[in-house]
Amino acid sequence: YQPPAGTLRLSQKSVAKPFLEVLSGRRQQVPPIWMMRQAGRYLPEYRELRAKAGSFLDLCFTPDYAAEVTLQPIRRFNFDAAIIFSDILVIPYALGRSVRFEAGEGPRLDPLNTPEQVTTLARHADFGKLEPVYEALRRVKRELAPEIALIGFCGAPWTVATYMVAGQGTPDQAPARMMAYRHPETFAEIIDVLVENSIQYLLGQLKAGADALQIFDTWAGVLPPREFERWSIEPAKRIVAGVRAKAPEAKIIGFPRGAGALLPAYVEATGVDAVSIDWAAEPSMIRERVQSRVAVQGNLDPLALIAGGAALDRAVDDVLANYAEGRLIFNLGHGIQPETPIAHVEQMLKRVRAYRG
Ligand code: CP3
Repeated sequence: YQPPAGTLRLSQKSVAKPFLEVLSGRRQQVPPIWMMRQAGRYLPEYRELRAKAGSFLDLCFTPDYAAEVTLQPIRRFNFDAAIIFSDILVIPYALGRSVRFEAGEGPRLDPLNTPEQVTTLARHADFGKLEPVYEALRRVKRELAPEIALIGFCGAPWTVATYMVAGQGTPDQAPARMMAYRHPETFAEIIDVLVENSIQYLLGQLKAGADALQIFDTWAGVLPPREFERWSIEPAKRIVAGVRAKAPEAKIIGFPRGAGALLPAYVEATGVDAVSIDWAAEPSMIRERVQSRVAVQGNLDPLALIAGGAALDRAVDDVLANYAEGRLIFNLGHGIQPETPIAHVEQMLKRVRAYRG
């Protein structure tokens, strides 16, 4: 990687991180960029280590491996932020649920469906299990160039609960939605346990060196407005408040994927510093009612990144035209897909870094 002409690569600790500058309300001329799921299967070096590590959880919980995988996309692309390599399902794992990742099938958990299992959930919490994630953060922090930010994360309670209840991903998260309608008190207990544990987990990540935090609510978009308020907004608000009670300066990004017209309400209520937006977001609404208040992160369609060529250039230009006049962190609208050619990631990066707004 060649830094853009005129860029000084200082080694002082006090050097500014463009990613954090945007989260702190200071728009950058060249928007900082990283990609959701930037460490992963589209990288041959990831696939190689993944094959060596054994299970996916072994990869997450072996600090040397997790740190290495976190740094792989940084070495290749010099992104403005690294995201710690882990998964949102380490919280159910720390709560004593069985969690496995079957090749090609996604996550498998023991379904959580009796009130008895729910009532005893918190009792099985063992946060020592997450110590390797903190150790990986400390190692990454030592290796990262000072201008690159380190992101910690957790899944939002609603999204994590959908996997815990169903025991796997389902197309429209029907099992969790059904439990929330039929047994709202029981479901609320699951959410409460996840809120409390997510706060502790995020604080642990900050202490281990994370510069900012992201809350992934991948399945927020399947909820009707009333349910969205109760199961996506309220828990996120409590997590933000709980983290800030101990770490008032914590920078937090929310990602309620598919929130659409409910995004301004999410921003207003939760107090996040930024929201990650999906590719279906409507630009003028986002500019007027979201970007006017907080930074925006997104929102290139991951399929345009697979397509490449002129379609990719056009999609990159659209994101820049829509949002780069305000506070923007360039990202995808959701995670990068395994079949994405590396050359297309380079094409996107070159175009974003050539932008001068
Ligand atoms: O962004 C990063 O590079 C950091 C690592 C990260 C992973 N998962 C690694 C991973 C992050 C931030 C996540 C978040 C995550 N995990 C979410 C929320 C964001 C999103 O993408 O919607 C969700 C819903 C999960 C749960 C999960 N983990 C699923 C549904 C799957 C299987 C589907 C898939 O994409 O493979 C996983 C496995 C997983 N998590 C992989 C990686 C790199 C692939 C596992 C493998 O290598 O075999």
